[in-house]
Amino acid sequence: MRTGFVGWRGMVGSVLRQRMLAEGDFTGLDPVFFSTSAAGGAAPDVGQGPATLLRADDVAALAGMDVILTCQGGDWTHAMYPRLRAAGWDGVFIDASSALRTADEATLVLDPVNRPVIDAALAAGCRTFVGPNCTVSLMLMGLVGLFRAGLVEWVSTMTYQAASGAGAAAMRELVAQMVALGQATAGLDPAGDILDLDAVVSATLASEGLPTQVFQAPLAGSAIPWVDRLVDGGQTREEWKGGYEANKIMGLRPPVPVDGICVRIGAMRCHAQAVTIKLTEAVPLATLERLIAEAHPWVDVVPNTPEATRAQLTPAATAGSLRVPVGRLRPLAMGPEYLTAFTVGDQLLWGAAEPLRRMLAILRGRL
Ligand code: HSE
Repeated sequence: MRTGFVGWRGMVGSVLRQRMLAEGDFTGLDPVFFSTSAAGGAAPDVGQGPATLLRADDVAALAGMDVILTCQGGDWTHAMYPRLRAAGWDGVFIDASSALRTADEATLVLDPVNRPVIDAALAAGCRTFVGPNCTVSLMLMGLVGLFRAGLVEWVSTMTYQAASGAGAAAMRELVAQMVALGQATAGLDPAGDILDLDAVVSATLASEGLPTQVFQAPLAGSAIPWVDRLVDGGQTREEWKGGYEANKIMGLRPPVPVDGICVRIGAMRCHAQAVTIKLTEAVPLATLERLIAEAHPWVDVVPNTPEATRAQLTPAATAGSLRVPVGRLRPLAMGPEYLTAFTVGDQLLWGAAEPLRRMLAILRGRL
């Protein structure tokens, strides 16, 4: 299967290559690497031997692919996808970006959650597959067991989103802010007045010199309750995606309302979210835990104890892992039909690269 990779050098593309190498996915594949900036240079060697980077705007070269997998971003997809289809290319397009997510011809892929939707789309001749928004994917990876059981009337999600969701520069900016705090406070007496320490931290966060080009505000030592741009009704686009994409991924009819507030916090690559679920009926907690845990092989129900929560249910504990822990499960004081939970997932794995890697494997009959 001749497979063209576009945007393989960025953060999601790099994680994708790392995962494909780890799983032996390049074996038997015929990979071709495209570049928007370095065509003619050497392609990365993933076992195919020496090869040259092709131009990522070369429609004829791209149209020679059976599959194109892009992590290049929405601008490239907006520019090239219509040209490829207009040129009669009917290969399979797999995209990490949000450019085509609302298109009728696109199926959102998250196979542990929606394999039947993917299989039905393939059977119906769908040729366009798109990775969903990371926050939505990670919420569904955690809670799909409850959706499948028809127990979810609505979900309110309050997110704690990592810097990686805003890109590589955002991760660097977060760490640069942490470094600035470390440097500013390094000379203080560790046994000194706590208010002196606090004053230095506050002054550093407020100072002109703090790098804030990406987030436009301090993120280290703070939180920013705004992700992406404003859409209608006071929602951010990230909040809107929660409802739209969750329903499209699972093909829910009638739709299940999903809404809340998306917040950026100073985690590196794991998004977390606190959810309130209105159940369609009161169900014993043990049954809910079983439904969540049995939904697919990657979800873990974390016991509601301080030790287990600290050890397993944090962004730091989940980074780099395909596990999706769900914990703090309990009925809320509002009544037995109100369930709360906290869930975490690696934004670059299940939130971005892994569903695309697996879609390629599904096409090859390997999953
Ligand atoms: N929009 C997400 C975020 C990442 O900013 O965290 C991409 O899904």
